[in-house]
Amino acid sequence: MNNRLIVALDLNSKAEALQAVKELGPKLSFVKVGMELFYSTGPDFIASLKDLGLKVFLDLKVHDIPNTAKRAIAVLSRLGCDMLNLHCSGGLTMMRQASEALEADTLLIGVTQLTSTDQEVLNKQLGIPGTVEDSVLNYASLAKEAGLAGVVCSPHEVVRLKKELGPEFITVTPGVRPAGNDIQDQKRVMTPREAIAIGSDYLVVGRPIIGSEDRRGALEKIIEDMEAGKR
Ligand code: C5P
Repeated sequence: MNNRLIVALDLNSKAEALQAVKELGPKLSFVKVGMELFYSTGPDFIASLKDLGLKVFLDLKVHDIPNTAKRAIAVLSRLGCDMLNLHCSGGLTMMRQASEALEADTLLIGVTQLTSTDQEVLNKQLGIPGTVEDSVLNYASLAKEAGLAGVVCSPHEVVRLKKELGPEFITVTPGVRPAGNDIQDQKRVMTPREAIAIGSDYLVVGRPIIGSEDRRGALEKIIEDMEAGKR
């Protein structure tokens, strides 16, 4: 189960990130490097994490015209990341060209609607009609058509996406909180056990682990809870 748990290293220096990796111990298998850490440490830090035997999801959410996005994804895939992402709202051509530009064995994942986008933001600010779930499904269908490996979505959308797009299409889900944890700014959450039980492929968890006094204990408890969801 530990290779299906992606720990978000939402920290802003090499020293803090390496300290967290050390504290998390041997059960840590997959980490997420977001904009904050990448912009403060630079591309070489990805190689340092790979040298420690970790898998790396580089969460930079690329979004630009097809040519620029394609060239960015080519460069990022050369860093040896195991997972990369881009915004589905860039459209089919952008996603297709980016997918064809991958230069390594990297999973390219589409960001559908951000989990901070609710019904009102979607309809009134972004001008997209319909429900958030419909929009997520639309973006995920386009991502599949473009050749992407899967999408980032809420755990609450996994069942419908798997039903419509097939079990092989990967779902990566933030919005995971162990029972009793503060949900912070995540809107609709599931426990690790529930997220595994409904078929999420990768769980992304940040603050419940990184913000814990006992990071290793928090990580191990989440892995145990994921195991329970498998049964
Ligand atoms: O601390 P927490 O567990 O909420 O962290 C979730 C991580 O997943 C953060 O790094 C956040 O940026 C990321 N994420 C998200 N929702 C998305 C895409 C990424 O929460 N739709």
